[in-house]
Amino acid sequence: MAARIHLDTHHHVGAVDRRIFGGFAEHLGRCIYEGIYDPTNKHGLIDANGFRTDVIAALKPLGMPIMRYPGGNFVSCYDWRDGVGSRDKRPVRRDFAWHSLESNQFGTDEFMQWCKLAETEPMMAVNLGTAGAEDAAALLEYCNLAPGSYWSDQRKANGHAAPYNVKLWCLGNEMDGPWQAGHVPAAEYGWRARAAGAMMKGLDSTIETIACGSSGYGMATYLAYDREVLEVAWDSVDYISAHRYSNNSAGDSAGYLAEGVEIDRVLADYAGMLAYVRGTKKSAKQVYVSFDEWNVWYHSHAGPQDNKEWKFAPHILEDWYNLEDALVCAQYLNAFIRRADIVKIACIAQIVNVIAPIMTRPDGLVLQTIYYPMMLFSKYVTAGSISLSVGLESPTYAAGKRGTAPALDVSATFDPADGVVTVFCVNRDAAGAITTTIDLADREIAGVAATHELAGSDLKAGNTFDAPNRVTPTAGKAVVDGGRAQITVAATGFAVVRLSTKAR
Ligand code: AHR
Repeated sequence: MAARIHLDTHHHVGAVDRRIFGGFAEHLGRCIYEGIYDPTNKHGLIDANGFRTDVIAALKPLGMPIMRYPGGNFVSCYDWRDGVGSRDKRPVRRDFAWHSLESNQFGTDEFMQWCKLAETEPMMAVNLGTAGAEDAAALLEYCNLAPGSYWSDQRKANGHAAPYNVKLWCLGNEMDGPWQAGHVPAAEYGWRARAAGAMMKGLDSTIETIACGSSGYGMATYLAYDREVLEVAWDSVDYISAHRYSNNSAGDSAGYLAEGVEIDRVLADYAGMLAYVRGTKKSAKQVYVSFDEWNVWYHSHAGPQDNKEWKFAPHILEDWYNLEDALVCAQYLNAFIRRADIVKIACIAQIVNVIAPIMTRPDGLVLQTIYYPMMLFSKYVTAGSISLSVGLESPTYAAGKRGTAPALDVSATFDPADGVVTVFCVNRDAAGAITTTIDLADREIAGVAATHELAGSDLKAGNTFDAPNRVTPTAGKAVVDGGRAQITVAATGFAVVRLSTKAR
């Protein structure tokens, strides 16, 4: 089979915001406790703070510029004050969201410290479920203001005189969801978000805020919730949050592998909704998309869930991923790059132990299949890269419940600083490799700077503690000949090629 990709560096969608390679750490299951903070670890895997050093080391190649915290559903009934100050005075609470016990031994200051070590920037969420604007503004003051008032002085008293200067603030979480503590209709939430955002920006005008949109395509209020919220809060927020989790519960791999078709559709829906609200408001401002929860999530639904009793750090949402999941994750990132014009932020949910690319046990960790697409994208979409419009001629394949779909899913970037074009391709079809020619209209392709693939015939293959390297990237197949590049994208595989180019 053959395909062709037509590129021209003058034809682009816009700059890729590297914040699309963000992560998310929630007080949920073993993400914070054991994953990030494991003070009783007996295997020499923690630093003086009790932070897992192997987890920090494994996160670094993912180059995550931002980290969303502390939830998720958790944030909607979280009192951030419980998590600051002397540890021996912090209360144990029952967390409504995940039916777990929360020790509060890890809180805002520990998270800020951890972010520094993990080389990422905090993206904080405030509770707009059971709390409101006043509490959100108090947290903002605690984090961002110079000493001289009550909460900033508390931070100083807790040993952190310098403000943390957190730039990104999520105004609640999934407030459209009936499962959410404090769930309310769109207009009501819109006013909450508007009030909280206004107070927070009043204290620190340099921050950016993210309003909750609909929590997924499957919701009856999909897009309508987003539109109503933005009709109230458009002028006071910068982003609308979108979430999506993919699954192959139906056991239809061919259909599942066409997941990118639906992700594209969701992004097109958001682009239309944003244009509509902007148009009706006759606004000069643009609100962008923060896709701050995305991933595959379903394996653990069938597995044992360890939260029947109230427990600290229960084993919940511990999905073990396989190759097909990695190919779906690659399609999320392709889709975000293709819509670089509206998607400025995205966070894989989550980073460790809970629906995550990294799984720990006391004596070590495993890098799951989904780790590798994230690693390759983040490494090669360098700061300053632009997303190229992709002219794609692809064969189609029978995509199960999704009918017929293009076999290839592609995105491409160009870094004007070094002249490198990077092409990311998923071959969704199990029928065979696709020989793919890349034409670059306006520059000469000089050579292959790097190429990798993640592929295999066993879509269910995954990495485990016993076999940690079953699914890892290998060298890709790419050549440059007669000014064109040709890559072979293996059946049910993901290929990345970096092409050095020069002006003609
Ligand atoms: O990431 C797991 C959960 O999924 C989050 O807490 C919530 O926001 C979403 O429903």
